[in-house]
Amino acid sequence: MNKFLNNFDKIKFFFNGKECSIFIGFDLFKIKNFFEKFKEKDQVVIITNQRLYDLYYQEIRKSILTITNRVDKIIVSDGEKNKSLKTVIYVLNFLKKRRYSKNIVLVALGGGLIGDLTGFISSIYLRGTYFVQIPTSLLAQIDSSIGGKNAINYKDAKNMVGSFYHPNLILINLSFLNTVSDRQFQSGMTEAIKYGIAMDYSFFCWLENNYKKILFREKETIKYLVYYCCKIKSEIISQDPEENQNKRVLLNLGHTFAHAIESKLNFSDVLYHGETVSIGIVTSLKVANLINKFSKKNTNRIISLLKKFSLPLFLSKEMSYEDYLFFIQYDKKRIRRNQIDLVLPVEIGKSSLYRNVDRNIVIRAINSKIKNF
Ligand SMILES: NC(=O)c1ccc[n+]([C@@H]2O[C@H](COP(=O)([O-])OP(=O)(O)OC[C@H]3O[C@@H](n4cnc5c(N)ncnc54)[C@H](O)[C@@H]3O)[C@@H](O)[C@H]2O)c1
Ligand SMILES: [Zn+2]
Repeated sequence: MNKFLNNFDKIKFFFNGKECSIFIGFDLFKIKNFFEKFKEKDQVVIITNQRLYDLYYQEIRKSILTITNRVDKIIVSDGEKNKSLKTVIYVLNFLKKRRYSKNIVLVALGGGLIGDLTGFISSIYLRGTYFVQIPTSLLAQIDSSIGGKNAINYKDAKNMVGSFYHPNLILINLSFLNTVSDRQFQSGMTEAIKYGIAMDYSFFCWLENNYKKILFREKETIKYLVYYCCKIKSEIISQDPEENQNKRVLLNLGHTFAHAIESKLNFSDVLYHGETVSIGIVTSLKVANLINKFSKKNTNRIISLLKKFSLPLFLSKEMSYEDYLFFIQYDKKRIRRNQIDLVLPVEIGKSSLYRNVDRNIVIRAINSKIKNF
């Protein structure tokens, strides 16, 4: 194994006083055994889906078996529709049947869906278990596995039921990205672009300058990309763990519109989360242009970067503004029932939360087309 591969990065931080370490590297589970803490635990339960079970379960199980032989698994169905109460109940029944104690480790092996689901169950099963994230998609490795936001969709409301519960440990094996499809990978890139627009101009420029290497999945570039995003997110969430200080909230850029689209599409995976966020960002650019004169030049720069990753800018089938406004009513950022609160860019690398945005401006932005920018 060469020096580069035999190397991992570590980020340590605190979330509301709870310590968490992130380890990042290629072939992570071949370099070191990260499961020593599991020795003290009653049981390890890995939650995953069939695809990821087939791809990676044995590799992880083998590594855990050197520490403890008490390893179990739960396979849940793939697809955003299954980030649901029904799946939570299925898993709770499984844990109850086996009479597992509170002293267990729940391991999320999967993308953002498995991570959100497992985190939520970890937070409620016997009022909280040890929780480990092994994110497998790009989106989960750079965003959703960090920060302790766990939620499931409830009926037509995205992420309505959830908790803040941070993982104790996050293990990012970059080699897992080898099996992620191009479309999924590009969808994950939206969250990286989001960090750049919302809070980090130089990172935005780095993305512009390195998009070819990223698309080619050049190893050093991917390692830097994931490491840097984890660094940004862990710093923000340790400063503002539960979104009370107008810092973490900025990471919701584009998400108000994105969640409305996902609800309208019935969580059907016609569009992936990163793709709806891309459309949401483009709509936010238009609102920002109308509210704070966000420049056309910067708008074009952002759109051009989204295009480099083949991300959609608009819905191929129109969604009426009435539908948007209906689902925006579920948005968690609101502090009043009927108001619209949006995170909008002020310039590239700087954004702000705007409360009670004028409804007519939002409608104009929804109805606008790219040529009107
Ligand atoms: N908690 C948070 O802070 C946060 C942040 C962003 C997004 N999210 C949530 O994350 C979810 C989206 O996450 P996602 O994009 O990872 O989607 P996902 O978890 O649905 O995964 C997408 C698809 O890729 C497959 N997959 C994952 N890793 C793979 C691998 N290594 N090889 C092959 N296939 C693989 C999955 O099986 C699935 O079919 C949404 O539910 C979103 O709401 C949460
Ligand atoms: Zn997101």
